[in-house]
Amino acid sequence: MQPQVHNRTIFTGDNLPILRGMNTESVDLVYLDPPFNSNRNYEAPVGSKAAHKIEKGDYDKIVYRHGKTEVALNDWWHISILNSQSKERTGYPTQKPMALLDRIIKASCPQGGLVLDSFCGCATTCVAAEKYGRQWIGIDISAKAVELVRTRLHKDLGIVTADDKKTTVWDAKVIHRTDIPKRSARGLARSHNIKNILYGQQEGFCSGCRTHFPMRNMEVDHIVPKAHGGQDTDDNLQLLCGACNRTKGIGTMADLMARLPTQVVARI
Ligand SMILES: C[S@@+](CC[C@H](N)C(=O)[O-])C[C@H]1O[C@@H](n2cnc3c(N)ncnc32)[C@H](O)[C@@H]1O
Ligand SMILES: [Zn+2]
Repeated sequence: MQPQVHNRTIFTGDNLPILRGMNTESVDLVYLDPPFNSNRNYEAPVGSKAAHKIEKGDYDKIVYRHGKTEVALNDWWHISILNSQSKERTGYPTQKPMALLDRIIKASCPQGGLVLDSFCGCATTCVAAEKYGRQWIGIDISAKAVELVRTRLHKDLGIVTADDKKTTVWDAKVIHRTDIPKRSARGLARSHNIKNILYGQQEGFCSGCRTHFPMRNMEVDHIVPKAHGGQDTDDNLQLLCGACNRTKGIGTMADLMARLPTQVVARI
């Protein structure tokens, strides 16, 4: 699906609502370097085909998806961590080496393709993508990212950037957004991996009883039932546990809430 967010966009904000607003399967490579102690569930878009999987402690070894099967490399990439004197250092505490992102991007994103880093920190991924002719979108809760991407594009690649308000000559315009994007009409189709996506969005909780379940116990439900005119689109779907789905039947969410046991409603 076509992305509806422009190349060279940096969002400042919580990535989950921003990711929900992006067209399904509109990026070629998702790189994730989250803070592992946040207790949040970032399963979507890890479950998507485009997602690179880098587990905690595995920064020098890459597991990647290629075609239909997941193939583990049988050799590791030896990339040194940034030393404290490195010229690359921006001062950002969790900065990853450019050499790591260079390799990931060249190996896993086609020329001209779109890379998304939803924890972009000091924008290493964005600069690497720019360097190799890939498009990029970065998201970070810290406003430092947009400042650093401009500094690094200039310092590393000699690119002069300007923000939207300036009319100076620029070679690359970095778009800074703080809003939540809206999916375009075409982005409203039903995704084939909707269960994965919804599970990530709901962070594993049933939309009815708000209990946490493993994915196998979840069922895809039309929020507004088809019998009431609801559509088979991503924005009209949710996950319910089996019990809630049976209770809701072809009724509405209001019907389900009215039928939930009082002790469950009290907990919600
Ligand atoms: C491990 S660092 C990423 C470092 C990055 N790979 C680099 O090379 O600079 C994790 C980043 O996640 C950001 N972050 C934490 N929670 C977030 C959230 N809910 N939404 C977006 N960014 C978040 C932090 O501000 C931090 O910059
Ligand atoms: Zn439930």
